[in-house]
Amino acid sequence: MNKNTDLVLFGAKGDLSARKLFPALYHLHYCGLLDNELRIVALAREDLTTEAFLEEIKPKMASYVNSKRWTEKHWDSFAKRFLYLSMNFAEADSYASLADVLDEQRTSIFYLATPPQLFDNICEHLGNSGCLTKSSRIVLEKPIGHDLQSCIEVNQTVANYFQEENIYRIDHYLGKETVQNLLVLRFANRFINTQWDQSSIDHVQITVAETVGIEGRWSYYDKVGQLRDMVQNHLMQLLCLVAMEPPNSMTADGIRDEKVKILRALRTIDSSSVAEHAVRGQYSDGWYRGQAVPGYLGEEGCEHTRSDTETFVAIKAHVDNWRWAGVPFYLRTGKRMHEKITEIVITFKSLPHNIFSSGENIPNRLVIRLQPNEGIEMQMSSKLHSLKDKMALVKQNLNLDFLGTSGNDRIPDAYERLFLDAIKGDQSLFVGREEVEESWRWCDALIKAWNEQALEVKSYHAGSWGPTKADLLIERDGRSWHE
Ligand code: BG6
Repeated sequence: MNKNTDLVLFGAKGDLSARKLFPALYHLHYCGLLDNELRIVALAREDLTTEAFLEEIKPKMASYVNSKRWTEKHWDSFAKRFLYLSMNFAEADSYASLADVLDEQRTSIFYLATPPQLFDNICEHLGNSGCLTKSSRIVLEKPIGHDLQSCIEVNQTVANYFQEENIYRIDHYLGKETVQNLLVLRFANRFINTQWDQSSIDHVQITVAETVGIEGRWSYYDKVGQLRDMVQNHLMQLLCLVAMEPPNSMTADGIRDEKVKILRALRTIDSSSVAEHAVRGQYSDGWYRGQAVPGYLGEEGCEHTRSDTETFVAIKAHVDNWRWAGVPFYLRTGKRMHEKITEIVITFKSLPHNIFSSGENIPNRLVIRLQPNEGIEMQMSSKLHSLKDKMALVKQNLNLDFLGTSGNDRIPDAYERLFLDAIKGDQSLFVGREEVEESWRWCDALIKAWNEQALEVKSYHAGSWGPTKADLLIERDGRSWHE
C-alpha cells in the first residue's frame, strides 16, 4: 500500500467514473486496501462544492456498489477522502488551483477518464503549471488514438511529460480475474504448459459477445466501430496472453516483451486475404429476451439512414511462429448478440485412432469463461456408466467455478485490481507503448484491406449470433463456433 497518494481524476462527472471508477475505489476502501492518507481529487467542469459533488454521486454509486457492502458508515469515511475542483481541462489558467492543492511530497496519479482529444492539452497544462514531479504517474483510458499515426502522436505527447515507467495505459480486460488466471493456468500447470502448441492444439476461439447495443453512444461509436472499439485492444490482449511464450518473470517488461513478439508475428490480413479472413456485420431489428429491439440505424442518437460501421467482427488470424504454425485463431465480437459471454476456447487435436467401439472420438476442449460465471471447464471423454454398452464414450466436464471455490461472495471488478496496481506502481497489467502501436499497425492493415475491397457489411438480427458469413468463415475449415 502506498502512503501519501493523490488520485487526481479528470472526468469525475462522467459515466465511467460513476459506473466503474468510484465504485471500484469504494470497494477497495471497504476492504481496507486503501491507505488512510490516500486522497481523491475529483475534477470536472461544473462549478460545485465538494459536498454538492458528493451528494450527486452518492445515489449513483449506491446503485453500482455491491449492496451487501454499501453502508452509511463506509460511505461517510470514503467521502472524507474527496476534494472536488471545477476546471476547464483545455485552459491553462484552470490548472493553478490544482497545483495549489497538490504537494510534491506526495505521489500524484493523474487518471484521464476523458475523451482522448483532451490528452494533449491536459499533459501540456499539467507540465507547464508545476503539477508534475518525477514520481507523478498518468493513467490513460482507451482509445489511444484511432489508428497507428494518431496513436504514435498521443504516445509522443504523453512521453514529453511522463517517463514510460510512469504511464499506465488501461485495458480493463487485463484487470479481470480470469484473465490473470489464464497466466496462472498456462504457466503454473505442467500438463497444460506441455500441450500448449501446434502439436496438440487444433485451433483457438476467442468470443466477446455483448447483448447491449450502442447505449446512447451512437455518434461516437459510428466513427469507431467494433474493430477499433474491441478488437484493437481487448481481443488483441486476450490473443497475446493465450499465444505468448512464458516470460522470464512476471514483471511488466517481461510480459510486455512477450506480448509484443506475438503482435509482430500476427499475419497481416491484406486485400488478397481479407475476404477469406474477416467478416463485418451490423445489427438490424431483432429480439432480446422477448422484447423487440431496434437495429443499429434505429438506435437513439442515430443521424443517418445508412452507415457502414461494423457492430460485429469475425476474424481468422494466424500467429506465424514456431509454436502456432498452422493453428488458426478465430476471433469474434459483436454488440446486440444472443448472449453476453466472453470466453476463450482451446480445442485440442483428436487422437489419431479411436479404439473404442461406440461413441465418437471427442477432442478435448478447454473453455476459459471470463464472464459471466467465471471459471474453467475441461471437456473430456469418459466412460458411460452402463452394463449394456461396455466401453461407450461420453463427453464430461471437469469444472472449476471460480466464485464457488473462492469462498468469496463476489469477484472483484477489473478496475479494483488496476487501481491497486497503479497505486503500487506495478505496470504488469497495463499496456506498453510498443504493444498498443503494434496492435494498431495490424488493425490499420485490416481496415485498409476492407476499404480497398469495399467489402459489404453483412446484416444480422439483434439477438442472433452474428451474420451467416461469420459461420461460414469457420465452417469452411470443418470447424464450428463453440456455443
Ligand atoms: C469497452 C468498450 O472498452 O468495453 C464498450 O468501449 C464495451 O463498447 C465494453 O461495451 C465491454 O466491457 P465488458 O467488461 O463489459 O466486457
